[in-house]
Amino acid sequence: MLFDKLSEYDKKGMIPFHMPGHKRNTALLGSGLPYRLDITEIEGFDNLQSPTGVLRETAALAASLYGAARAFLLVNGATGGLLAAVHSAVRRGDKVIMARNCHKSIYNAAELFELRPVYLVPETDGKSGIAGSVWPGQVRAALDRHPDAKLVILTSPTYEGVVSDIASICAVAHRRGIPVLVDAAHGAHLGFSKGFPPQPVSCGADLVVTSLHKTLPALTQCAVALVSGELVDRERLAGSVNLFQTSSPSYVLLASIDRCLRLLERDGAKLFEDYEKRLAAFDEAVKSLVKLRVLTKGTDDVSLHGGFFGFDPGKIVIDAGGTNLSGGALMALLRDRYGIELEMAGAGYAVAMTSVADKPGALKKLAEALLEIDRREDVVCRDRAPVMAFTLPRRLKSVGEAAVMEGPYVPLDQAVGKMSLEYVWAYPPGIPYLVPGEMIAEDAVRLVTQLSEEGITVHSTGGKLPEMIRCAAAW
Ligand SMILES: Cc1ncc(COP(=O)(O)O)c(C=O)c1O
Repeated sequence: MLFDKLSEYDKKGMIPFHMPGHKRNTALLGSGLPYRLDITEIEGFDNLQSPTGVLRETAALAASLYGAARAFLLVNGATGGLLAAVHSAVRRGDKVIMARNCHKSIYNAAELFELRPVYLVPETDGKSGIAGSVWPGQVRAALDRHPDAKLVILTSPTYEGVVSDIASICAVAHRRGIPVLVDAAHGAHLGFSKGFPPQPVSCGADLVVTSLHKTLPALTQCAVALVSGELVDRERLAGSVNLFQTSSPSYVLLASIDRCLRLLERDGAKLFEDYEKRLAAFDEAVKSLVKLRVLTKGTDDVSLHGGFFGFDPGKIVIDAGGTNLSGGALMALLRDRYGIELEMAGAGYAVAMTSVADKPGALKKLAEALLEIDRREDVVCRDRAPVMAFTLPRRLKSVGEAAVMEGPYVPLDQAVGKMSLEYVWAYPPGIPYLVPGEMIAEDAVRLVTQLSEEGITVHSTGGKLPEMIRCAAAW
């Protein structure tokens, strides 16, 4: 049974370097959830769909902590908030400028609202292969070419911690009266300390959606949508949030949002001071790594990555690309030998997520484990695999049109020239190589084959790659 499995896992005492950001740290957060607190909208407990009481107070606290004009509490993650944010700012069929590395929920919004996306491809980091920042110049050029676009959509920070210059991007878009939506699902902890990049809200973003549960001490699914400025209709956003959110919100989750925000209000300064000290000690310790490398930490620095405008120091991206260890092997080693569970592994790297709630000693253990692995004789340096170039495929149909089309699974090598009905992606760079409605070019097939031959998992919505892909005729 899942409950027993979870309880057993808890007893193992694994060190979590993954979401949720509360890190199961009951010493910091207390316990007692959830049955005795699990109610519905009874007298005195407000109504999330049109809050006037306690929930309105929590939302006001969120707005004030993040410096936004208004906040909406979300209990089904940033996913629902992003759908709502896009819905509030566009009309069906509108053109949007969106980063190619946007999360699936933005692609889902494009599909649902039949949007016409113009993609901004982030620069690929030449060293690690992960997606870099989107630059203001790219946004300016796209808006010059597409002055009829209605919204700019970006992810900052990314899953791996890469930050874009949101202030300059907002200045570019606002000059044309176009709002900017920042998916800051991984940036809920930004803005509470100068040691981290600024919060996208304070950079001028009109809409920001952030997952408290990813990088702050809150239960899974807790998130907030934040709106500022005059370019987005706040009442329309309120309606959009209600459209995509459950009508039976969990008070356990709402209480967790409230607790997280109040903890930050009361103890945020101290929590972040301690957090930064732990990160600085980790940074110092990993200077001794010889074969492995931690992006922007130790001997590495953000200035060595031309594709990064900034980087979230809370994200630990362990780069094993210069060794014979794959990201997956590194992740397994840390799990099996050291009782450390990471967030994810890509081809040549693995990601550890940290937060203010990491237990004392956790980061030190991670650093020690990495140093020990680095010293192993069977971990040897080897040439890095070349970074795979990504070319934007030709669009044949909109993602909305293609998503409802029927089509067979076809062997990959026979799919050249056909239209993909699937999303196809791999880590790195974590960008969809193909989106439904795009032409399957020969170089995309070559890329998928090459990645698979190198043992890199190629993900696809149909789940049959590298053998088969669902597609349709290109006309
Ligand atoms: C960049 C990005 N945006 C949005 C989401 C969705 O957030 P949530 O899990 O809170 O729904 C994720 C989830 O991993 C993400 O990585």
